[in-house]
Amino acid sequence: AIDPNFEQNREKVGEENGVAVWGPVDPPEQLGIHGTHVAVDFDICLADGACLEDCPVDVFTWVDTPGHPESEIKAEPTHEDQCIDCMLCVDVCPVDAIDVDPG
Ligand code: SF4
Ligand code: F3S
Repeated sequence: AIDPNFEQNREKVGEENGVAVWGPVDPPEQLGIHGTHVAVDFDICLADGACLEDCPVDVFTWVDTPGHPESEIKAEPTHEDQCIDCMLCVDVCPVDAIDVDPG
């Protein structure tokens, strides 16, 4: 599961699609955690898609991650600023790849 304390335990190493990337990263195999308010561990996400289907405000968009061992697309929290903290995505992700930090 995603580390809920990633902001303490990881370093911000850059930005992609308008959201922070928390390392370590070593593409294409290791992609880190994407986003801050809504965070997706790209190394755990296996492209189930429930988060995209269920988010009421369409926070997530697919991005291509060719060569990643778990899946070749990932759910990017592109519109994390629109999140209403309903926690649906956290509940539906089958591999607990998502952390939402209300506040
Ligand atoms: Fe969308 Fe709710 Fe998840 Fe926020 S907590 S990203 S609003 S499903
Ligand atoms: Fe990935 Fe979980 Fe969404 S596996 S696509 S973050 S439901």
